Amino acid sequence: TKKVILDVDTGIDDALGIILAVKSRQFEILGITTTNGNVSLETATTNTCKILTMLEVEHEIPVIKGASTPLQRQAFFEHRIHGQDGLGGALADMVVTKQPEDQFGPDFLIEQVKAYPNEVTLVMTGPLTNLALAIEKWPELASEVEEVIFMGGVVKGVGNVTPTSEYNMYVDPEAAKVVLHAGIPKLTLVGLDVTRQALLSEEHIAKLTDPVLADYVKVSTADYSKRYFERNGVRACALHDPLAVGVALQKEFVKTEKYYVDVETKSEICDGQTVCDFQDRMQQRRNVDVCVDVNSKAFLDMFVQTLNT
Ligand code: BDR
Ligand code: CA
Repeated sequence: TKKVILDVDTGIDDALGIILAVKSRQFEILGITTTNGNVSLETATTNTCKILTMLEVEHEIPVIKGASTPLQRQAFFEHRIHGQDGLGGALADMVVTKQPEDQFGPDFLIEQVKAYPNEVTLVMTGPLTNLALAIEKWPELASEVEEVIFMGGVVKGVGNVTPTSEYNMYVDPEAAKVVLHAGIPKLTLVGLDVTRQALLSEEHIAKLTDPVLADYVKVSTADYSKRYFERNGVRACALHDPLAVGVALQKEFVKTEKYYVDVETKSEICDGQTVCDFQDRMQQRRNVDVCVDVNSKAFLDMFVQTLNT
């Protein structure tokens, strides 16, 4: 079993990613680090603890709080999409007793990669602040980590915060830059190009058999799906973050191609834009496995099936 750490800004789709990772039983989840992003660090942490409690694994998986702000910028929350609480109003009345560990997220990343050299897979589904902080403190992490899979960016399509930029990159582009240039041998970008094809519809939700999970998913995704319809003309919940978990479970869900990717940090209107050098015009070493296609049906079938086990 793969040793995995999830890094999240829990968020509706982060929560679904956590659920997928836990229910798959395919990973040894060493811990979950939280970060500022969709919601504040505190809320992301509480939400993560709530999800683990719902799944009854709160005593098995440690939660470790990380960065409370981006490296250099102000926080930029996404309450419009994820609701004031980050979970679309689901689990509002849950009493959480689980507490985060007494450790800083980036230090946990360093500690675990040191403990298990070339064995740890990081699945990043929020802004990349925690990983950037870890790399700045211990640059060897880049070569000692087995693999990093991150949900972020868009290489051919349009952004979802600004015309050019995807949310996780937009919130902390300086952190994304550190990660992209760290020299991580296996670095996979799961961007909007593919995640916008991984759409959880009402039909999928109707197939969920576990009453607790079915109810949770229904409530949590309801408003999100309405918002998604306004922008994209489809009523569904885009499984951005779960697809990154899916790639960690089974590479075959996506097709990747290796390119040089950088991120814009100094632009008046394009900050956070991921720039993928498809034609080698910059003559740089190819640093990222970019997801260019996805078998969304296979992924969604697996998602529903896994939640039903
Ligand atoms: C990403 O941004 C966040 O709002 C989601 O949780 C996901 O990680 C999609 O752009
Ligand atoms: Ca996220």
